[in-house]
Amino acid sequence: MSVIGVLTAGGDCPGLNAVIRGVVGRAQQCETPVVGILDGWEGLMENRTVLLDRDKVRGILGRGGTILGTSRMDPYVHGDGLASCASTLSRNGIDRVIVIGGDGTLRSAMALADEGLQIVGVPKTIDNDICGTDITFGFATAVQIATDALDRLVTTAEAHNRVIVVEVMGRTRGWIATHAGIAGGADYILIPEVAYDIDHVVEVIRSRHRSGHKYSIVVVAEGIDPPTGYEPLEKKKDAFGFDRLGGVGYQIAAAIEDRTHFETRVSVLGHIQRGGTPVASDRVLATRLGVAATDFALSGLSNVMVAVRGTDIVTVPLAEATSEIRGVPDDLYTTAKTFFG
Ligand code: F6P
Repeated sequence: MSVIGVLTAGGDCPGLNAVIRGVVGRAQQCETPVVGILDGWEGLMENRTVLLDRDKVRGILGRGGTILGTSRMDPYVHGDGLASCASTLSRNGIDRVIVIGGDGTLRSAMALADEGLQIVGVPKTIDNDICGTDITFGFATAVQIATDALDRLVTTAEAHNRVIVVEVMGRTRGWIATHAGIAGGADYILIPEVAYDIDHVVEVIRSRHRSGHKYSIVVVAEGIDPPTGYEPLEKKKDAFGFDRLGGVGYQIAAAIEDRTHFETRVSVLGHIQRGGTPVASDRVLATRLGVAATDFALSGLSNVMVAVRGTDIVTVPLAEATSEIRGVPDDLYTTAKTFFG
């Protein structure tokens, strides 16, 4: 009999619990036991597991975080690959694993699949930058949270004639900044994919203020380069070896205020964008992905990731999913630019 293992690794993301519930619900229908692996790859290396059934996943559909816990440990950085996971797999009888994770996690999943473990990946990131899928769950929630914040910041900026720089998440790609910026009517949006000239940002803001709108909202993705004349901020690394980002918004604000003498404030939204309850569309998407991943895993597929193409759920090879990071298309950013200033 098959036993499915399921784990969540990397940063958390609204909708993780809905995926887990989807996996367990479908597996139970197919009379297949599911072992939850705790704290991501760490639990797989250290045999920390919990048996999951339908009752254990009741009431979690709309809950943020992950009931399984997560970590940034990696079987290849902190262990010996499949050899480090073998004992947990055999002790629990797990013969296939559903891995819910972002780019780094899916790369490790692919390496384990190449070593012979049967793996189906589920793409997860609020950044929406995984290749091979039209969208990732959690993104819609993050955009909604950032848009709600922008709606609030606009009114206080207007009341005080201030510029407010809003820093949103987006490690190397500016999906959240672009979508929230469009939805929230930002006066400028800076994303890692598009080089910018701070003097042009300043010119747009000045001209807006000259025309009588004496407040501005500038949305920046945390992963942009600092403005000319500023050094990159010193960054700590996380356990995965990724830079811990955050703070470039303060440099943008300083550069704007120095040049314009308009009072410029900063709001860094940070993990607020990742916590709490997923919006309805993310709950539906996450549920569909969890159910589909289970079907694909039980059908014997491996080294693939479930993905959204149009309205369909399909599989793409993990090699394709991890081949590059998906950026904001030019035409979307051009649409956003129409409303700068
Ligand atoms: O990859 C998703 C993400 O939320 C990025 O936007 C952000 O840079 C990063 O994770 C933050 O991760 P952590 O919570 O580990 O600092």
